[in-house]
Amino acid sequence: MLDLVIRGGTIATASDVFTADIGIRNGRIVQIGEALPPGAEEIDATGRYVLPGGIDSHVHLSQPSGEGIVMADDFESGTRSALFGGNTTVLPFCLPARGQPLREALTAYHALAEGECYTDFSFHLILPEINAAILGQDLPALVADGYTSFKVFMTYEGLRLNDAEIIRTLDVARRTGAIVMVHCENEDAIRYLIGRAEEAGEIAPRFHALTRPIVVEREATHRALSLAEVVDTRIVIVHVSNGPAIDEIRAARARGVNVFGETCPQYLMLTAADLDGMDWEGAKFVCSPPPRDAASQEACWRGLETGVFDLFSSDHCPFRYDDPAGKLHPGSRRGFRHIPNGIPGVETRLPILFSEGVMKGRIDLPRFVALTATNHAEVYGLERKGRIAVGMDADIAIWDPEERRAIRHADLHDGADYSPYEGLEIWGWPTTVVLGGRTMIEDGALVGQKGAGRYRSRSSIQAPLERGLRTAL
Ligand code: URP
Ligand code: ZN
Ligand code: ZN
Repeated sequence: MLDLVIRGGTIATASDVFTADIGIRNGRIVQIGEALPPGAEEIDATGRYVLPGGIDSHVHLSQPSGEGIVMADDFESGTRSALFGGNTTVLPFCLPARGQPLREALTAYHALAEGECYTDFSFHLILPEINAAILGQDLPALVADGYTSFKVFMTYEGLRLNDAEIIRTLDVARRTGAIVMVHCENEDAIRYLIGRAEEAGEIAPRFHALTRPIVVEREATHRALSLAEVVDTRIVIVHVSNGPAIDEIRAARARGVNVFGETCPQYLMLTAADLDGMDWEGAKFVCSPPPRDAASQEACWRGLETGVFDLFSSDHCPFRYDDPAGKLHPGSRRGFRHIPNGIPGVETRLPILFSEGVMKGRIDLPRFVALTATNHAEVYGLERKGRIAVGMDADIAIWDPEERRAIRHADLHDGADYSPYEGLEIWGWPTTVVLGGRTMIEDGALVGQKGAGRYRSRSSIQAPLERGLRTAL
């Protein structure tokens, strides 16, 4: 007998939309068809969309963020919030302290996460420094153990790598089949602009955006892509915010660079003007790269529509606003440079793209599925995830396309005290979420248990991503 049958819903994959029943046994999808036999549990999905559970491959949870500053979400609250937003897997970052063995840092993150999660999870590894032992021994061993993605930074003092270091890291990825995610902003140019702003007494949150202009992102994006071209390896350009950076990705791909592009809700829905808020309210929107302008928003939409972007992630990096351990920590009034970077959004990522993208006719359902689940699984080697197909993990989100409700932070489940999208009208919400065949959220209510989400080791896939829209570039 089937454990669970999801009956009569409109199923979407990255290539098709069709009506069928889904039969689930032992946590996997075992049948897709019409009039399936009864299951021990049944969900009537008539009139609903049945989509792969979202995979958010860019999430920060419990990450150390400076003295006296505490991230607003740990693995429990962060994954609960992700689940309510229609996600079944998240990929947070592991940030080792300088000098800390990478394996030890990963063990510590496992200890924070195991038994605490409402979604499945896996870790990207941030590399704040490299040396011969890390490159020659530690990383290859970790890749073999299923930690197949690293993030490197071209900005943030104490975190950024120089070009030579990035090349050496890319070379390890080439040899091991891992993938490197790059945060592209030119730190030296930013330092110069921050110095000028501070000399002029320009310290309010809005100067965060003005000292990280498009050109510093465009230049670093070009450089990162060129380094990947030299090494000839896969690369992800994360949290892309504007047209010129998108043009760099498109041009590199045309030259044959194996690049994946990621953008996030903040670059569709916010602008630098949001950092202008009364008093220090603009701090709520301080993230890097910063939100830009209407033309950049439009360019990001075009990038999603035409297939330049493969990944739509949240870059959930939550800090409470009205809190001495958050955006308003004691040092923050000294200037924008001291405000913790990052905004919450793991629960609102999918509803925003569904409402603004699918319901407003900018992208179709298969593209939504590719951008929010399937491509994340393929790029990061989650082999049994991101698709509704026989043999896959039964990770499924059921959406009510008729539910209309504005985003109110009071209704969300993260640990922050605000949403950057407060008041945004959303048309279409996930109402039921199934993780590995277990119903976790039923008609908007949490019914699953903490600890149901489990760690997932990943493969080092080298296959090129199937981009249905690539010819449109
Ligand atoms: O401002 C941001 N995006 N904070 C998170 C860290 C990162 O660079 O992704
Ligand atoms: Zn980043
Ligand atoms: Zn991030």
